[in-house]
Amino acid sequence: MKIFLDTAEIEEIKIAARWGVLDGVTTNPSLYAKVGGSYDAILQEICKITSGPVSAEVISDDVEGMLTEGRHFAKLAPNIVVKVAMSENGLEAISRLADEGIKTNCTLVFSTNQGLLAAKAGASLISPFVGRLDDINQDGMTVIRELAEIFSLYSIEAEILAASIRNPLHMTQAALAGAHVATVPFKILQQMVHHPLTDKGIVQFKKDWEAAQQAAAAKS
Ligand code: G3P
Repeated sequence: MKIFLDTAEIEEIKIAARWGVLDGVTTNPSLYAKVGGSYDAILQEICKITSGPVSAEVISDDVEGMLTEGRHFAKLAPNIVVKVAMSENGLEAISRLADEGIKTNCTLVFSTNQGLLAAKAGASLISPFVGRLDDINQDGMTVIRELAEIFSLYSIEAEILAASIRNPLHMTQAALAGAHVATVPFKILQQMVHHPLTDKGIVQFKKDWEAAQQAAAAKS
């Protein structure tokens, strides 16, 4: 499963890239709002850090507006993927952008049927929001699992991107459910690195090493 970072924070993206675990980045208007400044400049900077897909979200409601924004984003860097929210107009924009060779990520997907339609329209990435479904007492991972089964049955090329990941367990569950990608906030990526026994073990190894060095020095 590929790992994308769900953030517009440049420093977080740089760190994940240095760790060697970064396959791409997703942004959205809410994540951009936390950073501010020029969205275009941020996207271009992210695209310099990773050659993986970088999602840039359109905000227009009408098809022409979505197309204009999408074409603009697509010119910023070769690895930009235009994020379009699931809607009737969104499907049309996805289809037309696909005809122009522009890759899209269909976002705000909350049902298997929405995901199926987005794939048929030509989206490269389909983003079910797992955490927001869990929030309303529905099992978000079911959408991932059902889409994975359908895409496999019918050899559909679109990739399932598990979004709205809220905890490390979601990452494991998304991988087991067949998500091709999961996009994760930096804090959760950090949580995935750590385990109390790992951290304790590192401290103990260092302590034992230093004690052995002191004992060896005392003998010589
Ligand atoms: O990728 C979508 C994600 O940013 C939404 O997450 O936690 O706002 O539901 P959340």
